[in-house]
Amino acid sequence: MPISLTDKPIVITGASSGIGLATAFECARAGMPVVLAARREDRLRDAVDRIRSQGGRAVSIVCDVADPEASAKMIDVCLSSFGSIYSVFANAGYGIEKPVHEMPDADVRAMFEVNFFGTLNTIRPALPHMIRAGAGHVLVCSSCLAKFSIPYFSIYSATKAAQNHISRAMNLELRAKGIRVSSVHPIGTSTEFFQTAQRLSGDQAILEHTPAFFTQSPEKVAKAVVKCLRSPRPEVWTSTFVRVGMALSGLVPRIADRAVHRMVRDYDRRAASNEAASVGAR
Ligand SMILES: NC(=O)c1ccc[n+]([C@@H]2O[C@H](COP(=O)([O-])OP(=O)(O)OC[C@H]3O[C@@H](n4cnc5c(N)ncnc54)[C@H](OP(=O)(O)O)[C@@H]3O)[C@@H](O)[C@H]2O)c1
Repeated sequence: MPISLTDKPIVITGASSGIGLATAFECARAGMPVVLAARREDRLRDAVDRIRSQGGRAVSIVCDVADPEASAKMIDVCLSSFGSIYSVFANAGYGIEKPVHEMPDADVRAMFEVNFFGTLNTIRPALPHMIRAGAGHVLVCSSCLAKFSIPYFSIYSATKAAQNHISRAMNLELRAKGIRVSSVHPIGTSTEFFQTAQRLSGDQAILEHTPAFFTQSPEKVAKAVVKCLRSPRPEVWTSTFVRVGMALSGLVPRIADRAVHRMVRDYDRRAASNEAASVGAR
């Protein structure tokens, strides 16, 4: 029997754009009061106004999820605005595309601070309330890359694998307390993710090679998240084809590596031609 989501409040991080924003609308349509969190206040305000104009309940809070104290306030806002908390969707995150040996430690740590520690910062303050209520659902936005790291997205993939690992373990740790934990594994989704990655990665980015048939809408992910809230399961995949591919790549890593090796060749060629162009310009 699907769970009714009416009047069950949810906190969503990364709700100013993309998957988080689409999920906020989908949850509000399902009757959930929503707390939208991110750093861009104007975007959040606009989203709250639009949700309210459609008859939904929503509030927002400006929050950098890398800051544990600021993150705890998201949960306080949910309790003070809606009286309880049923769910959190730890969705805020970003990627940088660079070879591992060229990625400065500061960039690696910053990405873990947001993608991994930001997830813990979001989940932990909510759990005592869920445990007390004997019910709740934690969702974590991982990625299809949690299961198979492609070249130049390895640090990003490591953060996503770490999210997947804690989600799977927490689902077992918390189940007896009435709390479900699910990781969400989108494939390439048409959001601001790629512009942000391009901006943070510099001119060596190879993002234009992301195949168009791997791209889905954030609304598709949002619908999958709400479906999982209604009928909880440990992992949410939005492409069966990619899910099967990722499972096979774990079984036959040599063949999987051969399939993506072309990306490395393309990357090296582009890096060489960029280098030649910049030498020519000097
Ligand atoms: N797009 C894809 O192809 C894809 C595929 C698989 C998984 N994912 C995952 O999906 C999640 C959402 O990404 P998206 O695709 O929707 O990209 P997006 O449109 O760029 O959204 C990212 C969101 O995260 C927020 N954010 C970033 N850093 C933050 C911080 N330090 N504190 C609080 N909020 C922060 C951004 O808001 P502010 O800038 O306003 O803070 C924004 O709302 C990410 O975890 C990403 O790894 C994306």
